[in-house]
Amino acid sequence: MDALACLMTRRTATRLVEPGPTTEQLAVLLGAATTAPDHKMLRPWRFVVVRGDARATLAGAIAAAAQAVGTLPEPVVRKAAGKATRSPALIAVVAARVESKVPVAEQDASAAAAAQNICLAAHALGLASAWKSVPLPDSAQVRAAFGLADGEELVGWVELGTQAQAAPLPPRPAVPLDRVAAELAVDGTLRPVAAAVPDQVATTAGAVQPVGSARSGPVG
Ligand SMILES: Cc1cc2nc3c(=O)[nH]c(=O)nc-3n(C[C@H](O)[C@H](O)[C@H](O)COP(=O)(O)O)c2cc1C
Repeated sequence: MDALACLMTRRTATRLVEPGPTTEQLAVLLGAATTAPDHKMLRPWRFVVVRGDARATLAGAIAAAAQAVGTLPEPVVRKAAGKATRSPALIAVVAARVESKVPVAEQDASAAAAAQNICLAAHALGLASAWKSVPLPDSAQVRAAFGLADGEELVGWVELGTQAQAAPLPPRPAVPLDRVAAELAVDGTLRPVAAAVPDQVATTAGAVQPVGSARSGPVG
């Protein structure tokens, strides 16, 4: 798959089943994350891999955090905890801000780019992924599970595995460029971009079933 096809066809998985990434594939994903654009090379990110039985450990921390809220019904607590085990593996992306003239927003943007790199690299490897919000990210229990220091924040986690055939992906309608993109004219006005995505690229973007799809039904 060429680079453009990879980024145009990446989709957020709807249900992730085994097989998950191998140890070697995880190293590739983490390596890809570290190539994110990074102003002044501060490396304002770090990553935590959770897979196998450690997912239950994370689920326990989320359950403890949800119970500590004191008002959440048991099914809500269970649902939050279950998010830790709904994929074979996940990589949490931590915005590890550094004291610098580079604004925190730029450092966090680099961490978000790292998360996207993980999603794209997974797709290139034939894996499916889903970037998800971390449940109860500000709780002491979840922060401790990921070893967060003061000032560090969770950007999210990227769930990894194989897209279950039985959970089709929703369509992703093309976004008209003139709605989201403008071009600055010499006279200082902003004019909508008139060009459209070329047919061949748009067709690639329209593909809804990514690689990383399980041939048989869900197994988890
Ligand atoms: C910061 C961030 C947080 C997200 N959190 C969630 C989430 O908690 N649950 C979810 O289903 N999708 C989450 N997503 C994924 C988006 O919902 C997904 O990209 C969107 O549905 C578009 O699908 P696509 O990636 O296939 O185009 C998140 C994406 C980002 C960038």
